[in-house]
Parts: sequence; C-alpha cells; structure tokens
Amino acid sequence: MPSLNKQFPRLLPEPIKKDIRAADLIDTAFKAYNGARLSEACRLYVEKMLARDGTVGMTLTGALTPAGLGRAAVVPLLKAGFVDWIVSTGANLYHDLHYGLGMELYAGSPFVDDIVLRNDGVIRIYDVLFSYDVLLDTDAFVRQVIAGPEFQKTMGTDEFHYLLGRYVHEREKKLGIKETSVLSAAYQYGVPIFTSSPGDSSIGMNVAAMALRDSQLAFDVNRDVNQTAAIVYDAKRRGGTSSVFILGGGSPKNFILQTEPQIQEVMGIEERGHDYFLQCTDARPDTGGLSGATPAEAVSWGKIDPGNLPACVVCYVDSTISLPLITAYALTRLAPRKRKNLYARRDEQLAAIRAEYLKKGTVEKIAHRTDVSDVKDFGTASVKEKPRRNLAKRASSVGLGK
Ligand SMILES: NC(=O)c1ccc[n+]([C@@H]2O[C@H](COP(=O)([O-])OP(=O)(O)OC[C@H]3O[C@@H](n4cnc5c(N)ncnc54)[C@H](O)[C@@H]3O)[C@@H](O)[C@H]2O)c1
Repeated sequence: MPSLNKQFPRLLPEPIKKDIRAADLIDTAFKAYNGARLSEACRLYVEKMLARDGTVGMTLTGALTPAGLGRAAVVPLLKAGFVDWIVSTGANLYHDLHYGLGMELYAGSPFVDDIVLRNDGVIRIYDVLFSYDVLLDTDAFVRQVIAGPEFQKTMGTDEFHYLLGRYVHEREKKLGIKETSVLSAAYQYGVPIFTSSPGDSSIGMNVAAMALRDSQLAFDVNRDVNQTAAIVYDAKRRGGTSSVFILGGGSPKNFILQTEPQIQEVMGIEERGHDYFLQCTDARPDTGGLSGATPAEAVSWGKIDPGNLPACVVCYVDSTISLPLITAYALTRLAPRKRKNLYARRDEQLAAIRAEYLKKGTVEKIAHRTDVSDVKDFGTASVKEKPRRNLAKRASSVGLGK
C-alpha cells in the first residue's frame, strides 16, 4: 500500500525519557489501541470540547469518588473551569461527602476476608476500605443538614446539591481542609450537579427516611429534565458547542445525552445534537445496553451531531486510569478558563427554553424529514453530508386520543 505514508503518520514513537510529563508521554507514546484512543480523547477534550469556550457536561458513574478521584481530578477540573455541569450517581456524591467531612478512607487490598471485615465493622469497595462509622456519620450529616428550613420544599437536584455543597464547604472551613469535595467545589464555582435517579443512593435513602418524619424535601425530576436540556439549548443558541465527557455509563450517561432528543423530538425545537462525545468505559456495545452504546448509535437518536462523529472518542479504559491522565493533560496544555457559573443562570436558562418550546412545541406528533442538502466542511475528511431533521412541522395523522 504505497499511499499509506500519505494518509497516516508513521508509527515510530520516541524512546521514553526519565522525568517525562504525563501530557508529553500521552502525546509521544500512546500510539495504538486504547492508548491511542486515550491520546485522541485528551486532544478532543483540549482542542475541541474546551475550545471557543465550549460548554462541557461530565457524567460520573462507577465508584470514582471512593477511590479519591473527586479530590484528585474532578475538583481541579472544576476549579480550572474545564467542566461546566455534572450528572452524577448519588453514590459518587454520597462518597464525596466522606472527603468533604474529613473522614478517612484507606487504600487497602481486594484480597481480604470479607467476613473478618464485617465482624470488624469495615466496608470494602474493591480495594478501598473504611469504617462503618464513616457511613453512619455521613448519614447523620445528611439528615441533620436536610432538616434545615431551606430544604423544606420540592426542588431540582441541582438546587439540592448546591445547598448541600454549601454545608460541606462550611465544614471544610471549620476543619481547615480545602479542595477535598466535588459538592463543595461545585457550590463555590456555581457548577450545577444533577442526579438522574435521586432515590438510588444513601443520600436518597436518608431523604426518604426523613420524609417519614416531617421533612418536606422532595425532588422535582421534571425540572431536572428540562433544566439539563436548557443548559444545552443555551450553549447552542449562543453559537457555542455542547460536549459530553462520560465516565462509565449507566443512567447519568443517558440523562446527559437525552437533553438533545428532549429539545428536538419532544419540544420540537430544531437542533443537531451534542457537538462532541468522549466516553471512558468498560461497557461493550454489542449487548444493546446504553452504557456501551457508541457515539455513532447516539447519532441515530439525534443525541450527537453527525457532522462531528469522526472526532468522537470511546476509550475502553478504567476511569481510575483515564481520568487522572486526561486531567493532567488538560491542566498542562491549557490555561484555566473563566468559569461559567451556570448555577446562577438556572432560572433564566429554563425560561428561555420554555419560551421556545411554547412557540415551537406541539401536543400532537411532530413530523420530521431528513435533509442532507446542508453540506458543511467540519474539517473531518469523511464528512460530506450533514443529515438534519426538520422538526418544527406538525403531523396531523396521529395525536392525543387517536
Ligand atoms: N451507597 C450508595 O449510595 C451506593 C453505592 C453504590 C451504588 N449506588 C447506586 O447504584 C447505582 C449504580 O451505580 P453505578 O453507576 O456506580 O453502577 P455501575 O457500577 O453499573 O457503573 C455504571 C457504568 O460505568 C461503568 N464503569 C463502572 N466503573 C468503571 C470504571 N472504573 N471505569 C470505566 N467504566 C466503569 C460500568 O461498566 C457501567 O457501564 C447508582 O444509582 C448509584 O447511586 C449507591
């Protein structure tokens, strides 16, 4: 194949030298297989997702905060303005509380006797070990905090996490510790955090127990669905990009991606999909499950802009390896950005999408047609056509009651 050298760079990495920086190692030695995907992911994040002040949403699934990745990686990314909003499992936020409250977790071993651990009151998450008291004390903190007057209402999970983060931040200050917790950092920097299944974690369990007393706290999941769509819509209508940085998969993956079908398919507002997709996961695509679904599959749902598909990346790498490396790469290659403080704009963003929805949306079925005439060069050689769904037209044949 004589033309290979015209199409592809030669695979001839430099020998690794001592004291090499992580970012340089990724650029010079991660040249094939998932190493190459991780290198592509780093460049996608830095050169496209964060470029031109693009809006970046991150999802957290898997046991990341128990492993210390909240403090090690997510907090520095929030501080640098490299993540603008988050969808997390409740579990990651619950275990984040241990760090924010100055509790102790230990780097143990997976090869321990769980019956002995149980007798000794020790909890194990693979090789992370901590006392059962960490759970009991964290539970008590959640219950005491949510007994406060500001929690006695129905609210979106972004508001709930913001209010909770304020208490964690206060506790950090009292303990003389800082930059320990995702919830605290998100509160300080105005980064909205949503949970797609608020009942499915120890935070939700404590909220539920308090509802059996006299707590009025409940979660407005409709607001969460519309608010997350409003963040994406706001980024797009200002002419910017919206990107997703997915760690793991699970329910938060769908929750962040469904913002686009919510805008297009349900609200009838014309849109193209998220601009860039970056996922680090162990989930395989061939089972049909959402966790392993590729960006190409997401294109068919309108979740991802087909014009940018060749730039999207899936790394089949454990997040405990990929997240610190991507974080180090971004912090090395880019200066911190001005933080967007999206939390402060939540009412304004929701009002904007609501106004557009009431103009464009219908109760009846919304028709679509595929229009590939809108050719655009996105700098990606393989993209010649850009399918577009025209969603604003009403179909009369099917509707409510038919
Ligand atoms: N005490 C608690 O509050 C608690 C504890 C654990 C789980 N939960 C709840 O259970 C639900 C499921 O939790 P989950 O999302 O962690 O489930 P999960 O472990 O199934 O992870 C979701 C996805 O991420 C992938 N994944 C997990 N770890 C990964 C890693 N290190 N690297 C790459 N990919 C990885 C998995 O393959 C899967 O596709 C959540 O709603 C959570 O809140 C609660």
